[in-house]
Amino acid sequence: MKYLVTGAAGFIGHFVSERLCEMGHDVVGIDNLNDYYDVNLKLARLNKLEKYSVVNGMLNIAVGSDIVTSSASRNANGNFTFIKIDLADRDGIAALFCNEKFDRVIHLGAQGGVRYSIENPLAYADSNLVGHLTVLEGCRHNNIQHLVYASSSSVYGLNSKVPFATSDSVDHPVSLYAATKKSNELMAHTYSHLYGLPTTGLRFFTVYGPWGRPDMAPILFADAITKGKAINVFNHGDMRRDFTYIDDIVEGIIRIQDIVPKSRADWTVETGSAANSSAPYSIYNIGNGNPVKLLDFIEAMETSLGIKAEKNFMDMQPGDVYQTYAEVEDLFEVTDYKPAVSVSEGVENFVKWYKEFYN
Ligand SMILES: NC(=O)c1ccc[n+]([C@@H]2O[C@H](COP(=O)([O-])OP(=O)(O)OC[C@H]3O[C@@H](n4cnc5c(N)ncnc54)[C@H](O)[C@@H]3O)[C@@H](O)[C@H]2O)c1
Repeated sequence: MKYLVTGAAGFIGHFVSERLCEMGHDVVGIDNLNDYYDVNLKLARLNKLEKYSVVNGMLNIAVGSDIVTSSASRNANGNFTFIKIDLADRDGIAALFCNEKFDRVIHLGAQGGVRYSIENPLAYADSNLVGHLTVLEGCRHNNIQHLVYASSSSVYGLNSKVPFATSDSVDHPVSLYAATKKSNELMAHTYSHLYGLPTTGLRFFTVYGPWGRPDMAPILFADAITKGKAINVFNHGDMRRDFTYIDDIVEGIIRIQDIVPKSRADWTVETGSAANSSAPYSIYNIGNGNPVKLLDFIEAMETSLGIKAEKNFMDMQPGDVYQTYAEVEDLFEVTDYKPAVSVSEGVENFVKWYKEFYN
């Protein structure tokens, strides 16, 4: 099949692209390579995909959608094409869909980060709202079989009942990032309802592992600890996160994209789950289902690095929540799979990569 993967230079997107290429699918990966965090890390992730590239030296020429017709030397066995394009480029994304004729779309490109959404909310409007709509429009006009897109555990906002279940109401976000992710689910539902577009939203829970994001705790902690600086521990360490290892997330995405939601004639708002609809629409949590105390996560990092961290205990940050905890029974029921990698194993793998990558 032919896939569009958005956010292909991102942490999750490059692993999903890699996996689909290994499975023998044709993949077009797009990303705007923005500098929200180190662009070299994004380029290094894309370099891992170079071996699958349709066009040799893809990073030198991957600007604009003319790459596909470029006269550059081609790799006969390649099945990955990278295109640098912004999701908010309405005409560009429409042309991409029209030219490429995708079967399925895995939409992972977005402006991430809870804290940055307080500093720069408009970036989230462009990438997460306009960007999500250009993808929905592309899917609508080009008979896409299944759109799988990234939502987030942050949609649970002020909810205090745990574990967080997809049947719970999620109408009280505490950051603009979370509000855009909830909006993505609402927008997807509209397209599933109006145009019969099968959509699946995945609420990821704190994803970590090798090739992770420099704005997230594991790299921030590893950087500070190895440089002998104090790490900032928010809410005085009284926090729990359902840390989910990257391989578990990728496995979940790969399995779910094969489960195309169907319309449910008997579904009603009164009797049905908020995670389904009369339209071909589904929402799943992908999380470990096993929240870990922040201080235990830090201890696993100290053990793997072999260095004790100095800790700067601080108050809770605006936009943050006390705990995340995924109910994953629905995911298990349909995919026969639930995340299983423990924090000690995952952190060990992360630290091994971190030491190699950052020397
Ligand atoms: N990592 C997590 O813990 C986590 C948790 C919940 C949800 N998510 C969601 O999962 C998805 C993937 O997250 P990630 O951790 O891989 O993040 P990431 O930032 O590493 O990847 C996102 C990619 O999207 C690209 N991008 C951003 N705006 C774009 C635009 N306007 N046009 C084109 N490309 C653009 C970025 O350059 C980046 O490479 C995102 O939607 C994110 O919100 C991630």
